[in-house]
Amino acid sequence: MNNSNVSKWSLSSRIFHWISALLLLITWVMILLHENLDSNLYIGFHKAFGISLLFWMIARAINRIFTKAPPSIPMPKWQSMVSKLSHFALYAILTAMPLAGLLMTVYGGRPVDIFGLFQIPVFVTPDRSLARFYNDLHTDIIWPMIIGFTALHIGAALYHQFIKKDNLISRMK
Ligand code: HEM
Ligand code: HEM
Repeated sequence: MNNSNVSKWSLSSRIFHWISALLLLITWVMILLHENLDSNLYIGFHKAFGISLLFWMIARAINRIFTKAPPSIPMPKWQSMVSKLSHFALYAILTAMPLAGLLMTVYGGRPVDIFGLFQIPVFVTPDRSLARFYNDLHTDIIWPMIIGFTALHIGAALYHQFIKKDNLISRMK
């Protein structure tokens, strides 16, 4: 079956989708470079791209409220429920992750420099235990959730593409 002419996501939703995925990828690569190379450059980029993703996700959520989603394609009820829940979860965790990163940094008493353009000042009273709390949230709780939900999401896209062959991906292209 070829549903390539089924209704697509709006252009704005498609742009928001792919730029979010790209920002997530870059933010992740930056932390990998930070962990593997002896340079202070990449943690700064990690923070700046992560904050960019935070702003992008806020704009994306507003876009999502005001633009109409295409009607969902026919699928078993449980699949459409898992799909809706996991899309909602992706919005929530992609917003919570950079917020936790920001809070752990400012509670640690450090401002966040955004590509040398401006700085987010330390807008809270530094607190070591809160810094540690948001650090744990960032690395031990939300990060594994991002890995899990993203794997589920890409797995579902591959299932539609190669097993169901219903061309679902063309709705987001
Ligand atoms: C969606 C955006 C983000 C993602 C996906 C992300 C992901 C990660 C990951 C995977 C790690 C490594 C965790 C580990 O050690 O296993 C990390 C560490 C870190 N992140 Fe983020 N991050 C994001 C946003 C931010 C932001 C906005 C900030 C600060 C403004 C930030 C600050 C940090 C810092 C300082 C570390 C090092 C923590 C440590 O060494 O203990 N992150 N992040
Ligand atoms: C190879 C990578 C990816 C592919 C092929 C892909 C594919 C898709 C497709 C086809 C849809 C539309 C589903 C439908 O019409 O019911 C979609 C929606 C969505 N995707 Fe992805 N995606 C990818 C990566 C990502 C990543 C990395 C994220 C975030 C972590 C993400 C978050 C979302 C969200 C939140 C939606 C729901 C759309 C909305 O409500 O705005 N995607 N994706």
